[in-house]
Amino acid sequence: MERVATGIAGLDEMLNGGIPAGRHIALYGGPGSGKTSFGFEYLYRGAKAGEAGLYITMEETPEDIVDNMKNTFPMLSDVSQLVSAKKLEFIKPDKLELESVANLLEDRITSNDVKRAVIDSSTMIRLSFATDIEYRQTLFEFLSLLRNLDVTTVTTVEASTSKREEMRYDIEHFTMDGIINLYNLDREDRRIRALEIFKMRGTDHSRDLVPFKVTPNGIKVYIGEKVF
Ligand SMILES: Nc1ncnc2c1ncn2[C@@H]1O[C@H](COP(=O)(O)OP(=O)(O)OP(=O)(O)O)[C@@H](O)[C@H]1O
Ligand SMILES: [Mg+2]
Repeated sequence: MERVATGIAGLDEMLNGGIPAGRHIALYGGPGSGKTSFGFEYLYRGAKAGEAGLYITMEETPEDIVDNMKNTFPMLSDVSQLVSAKKLEFIKPDKLELESVANLLEDRITSNDVKRAVIDSSTMIRLSFATDIEYRQTLFEFLSLLRNLDVTTVTTVEASTSKREEMRYDIEHFTMDGIINLYNLDREDRRIRALEIFKMRGTDHSRDLVPFKVTPNGIKVYIGEKVF
């Protein structure tokens, strides 16, 4: 099976090499759990390896995302160069619609050979639907359309909780090909970050809850370590 290495330290090992190519996975997590940082680094590592990446932001401005990521990851100092070289592009669609996202993606795949994309977040799109049924149908159609494109996507989904025991199943849990849960766990006087691969269709993967850190030169996933 062809896989797309995320390039995030430790994560590819948990995925037995990476995300199955052409699949569409979700990063599910509460506020500040690291969704944007993960999505960004997935594109950044791809760009460094020569694969063009498209970051579709549904809420924050592209400028804010780039500024925040430069501050979060000061040692990834060539972000501006990768943007100039068109290996990284950040864009906010005019409309909060999956159709606009699909059009954007198709356009950039054709014009710039984009291989990786991030959609941050699907929650913004969901809120524009009157009913869950409508959203689920539209998301399903969107994913069917993506399957005809040569792109591997990561979509962020906002969870209403950072606690593992309070996680509920959302529409994305059933529709997406894979789910990675990000947690900001409460531990006495501090919070610690942890993640788990909740599902990944078509491949075996780690089922451990593992700690991770956001460091100046990227995210580090500490496989084999326990979450205390
Ligand atoms: N340089 C840094 N070093 C360590 N941690 C950082 C650094 N910069 C930011 N962070 C942490 O990362 C968190 C933000 O991560 P990120 O923006 O990826 O989360 P998110 O899940 O996208 O959040 P939101 O739900 O607000 O969109 C911050 O709240 C902060 O705790
Ligand atoms: Mg975010």
